[in-house]
Amino acid sequence: MSKCVLVTGGAGYIGSHTTVELTAAGYDVVIADDLSNSDICGVEGVRAITGKNIPFVEMNCLDKEAMDKLFTDYKIDAVIHFAAFKAVGESVAEPLKYYSNNIESFVTLLSTAARHGVNNIVFSSSATVYGQPDVLPATEQTPRKPATSPYGNTKQMCEDILRDTVAASATLKGIALRYFNPIGAHPSALIGELPKGVPNNLVPFITQTAAGVRECLSVFGDDYNTPDGSCLRDYIDVVDLAKAHVTAVSRMLDDKNKERYEIFNIGTGRAVSVLELVNTFEKVNGLKLNYKIVGRRPGDVESVWADTTLAATELGWKAERTLDETLKSAWEWEKRVRGL
Ligand code: UFG
Repeated sequence: MSKCVLVTGGAGYIGSHTTVELTAAGYDVVIADDLSNSDICGVEGVRAITGKNIPFVEMNCLDKEAMDKLFTDYKIDAVIHFAAFKAVGESVAEPLKYYSNNIESFVTLLSTAARHGVNNIVFSSSATVYGQPDVLPATEQTPRKPATSPYGNTKQMCEDILRDTVAASATLKGIALRYFNPIGAHPSALIGELPKGVPNNLVPFITQTAAGVRECLSVFGDDYNTPDGSCLRDYIDVVDLAKAHVTAVSRMLDDKNKERYEIFNIGTGRAVSVLELVNTFEKVNGLKLNYKIVGRRPGDVESVWADTTLAATELGWKAERTLDETLKSAWEWEKRVRGL
């Protein structure tokens, strides 16, 4: 019988792509999402791509009773926990909203999973835990820097909560995946990133500008100590990222993990500047983007990219899609959303 994976936040950007890849790999999936920062289209897109009526439970992960019912109704073998708020600026303005939603929901999930004997948890972490590393590329051993926002703090705290809960248990296994910058969309253009309001992140801002929804992209800073002066990031294709989750789940379910708590960087290992990304977007999609250079954005780190050796050797995973393909897929998705 197929193993069943609970995907919290499965209607969202990374969760929906992961649900597709889990299904393709033969897992049953149940999605739990409160749709607070996502849309039922995410679930519909996943169902259209997979041709399966993937179960969807509309619930908030803070709701202990709903969580308990979920684990009673479905025989869950592993959980991937995406459900969380993720806007850095908002987290500074409303820290308690972030601490409550991101921390309490994870604690609720872990305690419910423990009560129901579910022993395999993947946590959706972020390269934000590294801040500006002293040495690049960042390995999993690179020291974490003090978080510069409540959002970043919740990622660090949830990693620690998982680590400590695993240590206190005889059976629990946990994997934290530290994503670098996820971008792009499914090649079908049936699912993708759907930010509510003005996008904070670079690629949705680019695609919305290309679509005429935003007038002009602001490039935040060209006076950094980098080859072209703009910031360097490691942009990871969302389908590749989704596949990393499948390998993490399989590793635990097949008892291949070396430690009961493990951390993996999920990136490409390649540093790309903001200007290079903009130019590549223009080139592969054959269009001109309206952009201007403005001052630095407060809180931005100059450069961060991943050493992905551990994911390659231990998970047998590496990024496959090229930046060209990924930026094409991002534009195809935006066009579909806008009816262009
Ligand atoms: N950028 C622009 N213009 C924009 C948006 C972004 O020039 O309109 C630049 C940023 O300055 C940065 C790069 O594009 O140099 C990437 O910015 P994103 O906002 O897309 O991504 P970040 O690297 O800032 O964000 C990542 C994760 C977040 C996490 C954050 C913490 O995507 O989830 O790191 O610092 F919160």
